[in-house]
Amino acid sequence: MRHLMNPLDFSVEELDQLFDLANDIEKNMPKYAKSCEGKKLATCFYEPSTRTRLSFEAAMLNLGGSVLGFSDAGSSSAAKGESVSDTIRIISCYADICAMRHPKEGAPMVAASKSKIPVINAGDGGHQHPTQTLTDLLTIRSLKGRLGGFTIGLCGDLKFGRTVHSLINALSRYQDITFIFISPEELRVPDYITEMLTEKGIAYQEVIRLEEVMPKLDLLYMTRVQKERFFNEEDYIRLKDFYILTKEKMELAPKDMLILHPLPRVNEISVEIDDDERAVYFKQAQYGVYVRMALILTLLEIHVD
Ligand code: NCD
Repeated sequence: MRHLMNPLDFSVEELDQLFDLANDIEKNMPKYAKSCEGKKLATCFYEPSTRTRLSFEAAMLNLGGSVLGFSDAGSSSAAKGESVSDTIRIISCYADICAMRHPKEGAPMVAASKSKIPVINAGDGGHQHPTQTLTDLLTIRSLKGRLGGFTIGLCGDLKFGRTVHSLINALSRYQDITFIFISPEELRVPDYITEMLTEKGIAYQEVIRLEEVMPKLDLLYMTRVQKERFFNEEDYIRLKDFYILTKEKMELAPKDMLILHPLPRVNEISVEIDDDERAVYFKQAQYGVYVRMALILTLLEIHVD
């Protein structure tokens, strides 16, 4: 039995197969409509979510399966003091696969170690968010036609942003990628990530001003400042509007540079950009459903001819 805790749990070849499957699902949805009949997905969300939880649920419903779960720790037995290890033992009796989001780093991993069903990490604290990374990679591969040979700028809260940590990890396995980290000093990407890049001999640059690097980018990955992970509100207020992507700044960008964002957006991308062809963040959310469908089929070992 397989779980998904980290994007590196799948090899590059396995990811290619997963993305091929996701692209086939995109083109031939009806073919998959009954593939998970009789199967149940449990969504155990101890932290807020819109896209991740609902796209998992939509994915399972699109496959003909059903869903159960909770969307807030307060309405689960966690409020009575139950551990994730006990909860997952119980969920294992009720469902065939589980997607879990938790504010504590490593909680889904603890759950996986006690589980009788595949567990998917749907975000653990400021650590990892592998299914967002699968979504990001599928979006890039589908729209750019490749996963390698580009310069990617990651902008915003690179310290607490788990989507950024997972994406850098995953992209570090592809050829000819240059990373440009764009953040205020206080929100720089953690040392363990830059050390990993240095060890692998992968080029990166750290800058504060977005305008300075914009003309070089093939991809711009924007993120919000992660309010819930700040220790004091003053710092959050000082940093929250550090970057706002406007039409003016977009004039500096190459004509084919794609803008990605895991969403939710707060203020960091002006709504006037939404109509720009290069803004693909809403498409990205759609790819999130296809890739989660492919992931559920893969972890449940269901093959559709
Ligand atoms: C992200 C997350 O939860 O980390 N959201 C998502 O799943 N698409 C990004 C964020 O909350 O900023």
